[in-house]
Amino acid sequence: MKRKSIVFFTGAGVSAESGLQTFRESKDGLWNNYKIEDVCTPQAWLKNPSLVLDFYNLRREQCKAAKPNKAHELIALLEQFYNVVVVTQNVDDLHERAGSSKIIHLHGELMKSRSTIDSKLIYKCTESIHLNDKCQKGSQLRPHIVWFGEMLEDSKIDEAIRYVMECDICVIIGTSLQVYPANEIPSYVTEKCQLILIDPNSVSHSLGSKRVKVLQQTAIGGMEELFRNLI
Ligand code: APR
Repeated sequence: MKRKSIVFFTGAGVSAESGLQTFRESKDGLWNNYKIEDVCTPQAWLKNPSLVLDFYNLRREQCKAAKPNKAHELIALLEQFYNVVVVTQNVDDLHERAGSSKIIHLHGELMKSRSTIDSKLIYKCTESIHLNDKCQKGSQLRPHIVWFGEMLEDSKIDEAIRYVMECDICVIIGTSLQVYPANEIPSYVTEKCQLILIDPNSVSHSLGSKRVKVLQQTAIGGMEELFRNLI
């Protein structure tokens, strides 16, 4: 019998219980402590590259210190029973470290750097990036992150939409669904698809409320419940 397929569409909340901050929560959100325009735009990079590098160097260190939590682990474990694809807005590598094998990173990856003159030159990056760290063509390295004002890779969006359109179950975890175009991807589910949203807070979305089953729990609690129901 053909295995059923599940797409997990994840955001910062899936890594919150690993100790990584989300972006938009009232006092703890990262965007309450930094201004997006200072650290996360092409203009910020031109104006003050050291500040941008420091911001991402710190986040890389925090990511390295964090461990995948049970929600990441249960998502990976479900590969034994389902065809699982993770579509994530997160730039951390906790899904990888938990053992998930098919992950689409829509917004880039903290553990990679890339050339500023040739975006195809991408390198593994486990340590800080400094000014004057260069790619093989001699240009400054930057974090491999999609900043505000930059385009997501079309091929990644297309691939994510294809998986969402084909899946039997789509589980949204820990995202405020505020950032375009990623937030539109789950709306491509078909009628046959069971749509589940796990978040401890209420999330405003335009997914057609009747079809969405909401588990108002943290990522770990919600995934434990879902896992019991799926296995
Ligand atoms: N478990 C599950 N969800 C949680 C938890 C938890 N323990 N704690 C918080 N959340 C939820 C919040 O209620 C919120 O809905 O996680 C969501 C986090 O939302 P955001 O901070 O907006 O993060 P996200 O949606 O991933 O942001 C999207 O914005 O700035 C950018 O590029 C960045 O990829 C990011 C994008």
